[in-house]
Amino acid sequence: MNLTGRHFLTLKDFTAEEIQYLLDLAASLKAKKKRGEMVDIYRGKNVALIFEKTSTRTRCSFEVAAHDLGMGSTYLDPVSSQIGKKESIKDTARILGGMFDGIEYRGYGQKIVEELAQYAGVPVWNGLTNEYHPTQMLADMLTIREVFGHLAGIKLVYMGDARYNMGNSLMIACAKMGMDYVACTNRKYFPDAELVELCRTYAKESGASITLTEDVLEATTGADVIYTDVWVSMGEPEEIWAERIADLSPYKVTAEVMANAKPTAVFMHCLPAFHDLNTKVGKEQGEKYGFTELEVTDEVFESGQSVVFQEGENRMHTIKAVMAATLGDCSSLME
Ligand code: CP
Ligand code: NVA
Repeated sequence: MNLTGRHFLTLKDFTAEEIQYLLDLAASLKAKKKRGEMVDIYRGKNVALIFEKTSTRTRCSFEVAAHDLGMGSTYLDPVSSQIGKKESIKDTARILGGMFDGIEYRGYGQKIVEELAQYAGVPVWNGLTNEYHPTQMLADMLTIREVFGHLAGIKLVYMGDARYNMGNSLMIACAKMGMDYVACTNRKYFPDAELVELCRTYAKESGASITLTEDVLEATTGADVIYTDVWVSMGEPEEIWAERIADLSPYKVTAEVMANAKPTAVFMHCLPAFHDLNTKVGKEQGEKYGFTELEVTDEVFESGQSVVFQEGENRMHTIKAVMAATLGDCSSLME
């Protein structure tokens, strides 16, 4: 398997075998990290990390992973570079491509990261766009594999805004990996029909299935994974909150939802989550709309079924695998 020089923009561009390879590499890198083994094979290389939206997990994962691999990293925050204001993406791509060995981009439209990739001349990694969040998928798949030992045949139910980055990406990942994907939400939030059709073609090959339903009981029966995300994503307007709360409240992950899934089911969330009012935004919105928890109850979030912190740690190991695999020969890292 050789992924050298490849961009990592969406899992649509990767085969099931390539995804499996990245997961195996991530598992190897995780084991080495736990044993304290150095993996600094890319000393002398440097990566640029562009964040037009805020981040905790993704930024820290790229920085820690780059440093573990022996590389330098430069963080460009949402306001203090010329990007998008005084300099186009095409020009930025050619400048950064001349200085760095790889570029991470988190921002708005997928078209922007595609343009960056077209002109950079070095691997570009998507750290989240409105449409996709592919590095999150590798962490999620690694976590599911750690919990259940396999991916094929796992039933994953996604509750919430199923037509945005997380819903789209989970549908693609599940379809590629032979899993049963269920989008359980108000039909206003069903994924784009064209993407559903594309995923059904992947599903035919892998043995996966794609279901869209508004029925919580039917959806969650026999589920292995109940997954949710925030109801209002980064960059969406403030005015949208009232409508989202009204539309998506029936799809909150509660103890009743978890009880309807398999006894062995786990709860997953890409994070950050509004499971209590201990955040500035959660407190403001909670007081305005009269809630104490949004997409998931605090009870479920803090329960033994919740694997969200294992999932969060896996962001770093999987992002390390993506950089290692696309920057050169990393066969020495595979156990
Ligand atoms: N899950 C995720 O992407 O988290 P951050 O926004 O903190 O990077
Ligand atoms: N849908 C969320 C995911 C955050 C990791 C957002 O785009 O804000």
